[in-house]
Amino acid sequence: MNFHIMTLFPEIIHSYMGESIMKRGTEKGEISYKCWNIRDYSKNKHRKVDDYPYGGGAGMVMTVDPIVSCYNHIKEAVFKKPKVIYLTPKGEKFTNEMAVELSKEDDLVLLCGHYEGIDQRAIDMIVDKEVSIGDYVLTGGELPALVLIDSISRHVKGVLGDDDSLDEESFSDGLLEYPHYTRPAEYEGLKVPEVLLSGNHKHINEYRKTESLKLTLERRPDILDISKLSKEDIKILEKLKNIDKQSK
Ligand code: 6GU
Repeated sequence: MNFHIMTLFPEIIHSYMGESIMKRGTEKGEISYKCWNIRDYSKNKHRKVDDYPYGGGAGMVMTVDPIVSCYNHIKEAVFKKPKVIYLTPKGEKFTNEMAVELSKEDDLVLLCGHYEGIDQRAIDMIVDKEVSIGDYVLTGGELPALVLIDSISRHVKGVLGDDDSLDEESFSDGLLEYPHYTRPAEYEGLKVPEVLLSGNHKHINEYRKTESLKLTLERRPDILDISKLSKEDIKILEKLKNIDKQSK
């Protein structure tokens, strides 16, 4: 999987990609990334990439030509037309499902905007999909691009080591993850739940499933998908709902 990041601030991307699992993934060759500095494609003698908005109003708008010209260079380097995602709060909300789908692409272009936005014609000409990472506004598209790269890369084969599990984590089964504990068994009077020290894997699995269901019911009832649950899960869930009713 190759990421192409169109940005005015490549250092933001390098700083994150140079650490931890993204670093390991690029070193192993499971993923690669290249920053394309939009400013390098400005034909202006001062390398200007923004201008005042037609119709007036606050802020500056990124001009169309450096963006389209930068994209044309990426297309030539990749020998085909890769999917282009524009990071914007106006976009479709990013989800784990989207990450899984996008992890199947060979090449992905991530267009990072700044200032008040980019000339609409650049979007109309090159963008396939507009994506937002949540309902709040950021000053630029680099953090959202990194959010996408990180969560997409985790679904690319070989990026996560054997120790970094993909299928027991939050969202993979539509449930929030159960709580984790490691040594010591007691810290300032707080004990690790006894069942986890028991060595009884049936009981441990039941405990973890119950905690996952409890947490999802409390915090994210909106993501609870009954059709994804087993008969045993539904039994546990009914029990939890009854307990909840009694305590009200
Ligand atoms: Cl993708 N971009 C910006 N600038 N702000 C955001 C966002 C994206 N998603 C949420 N807020």
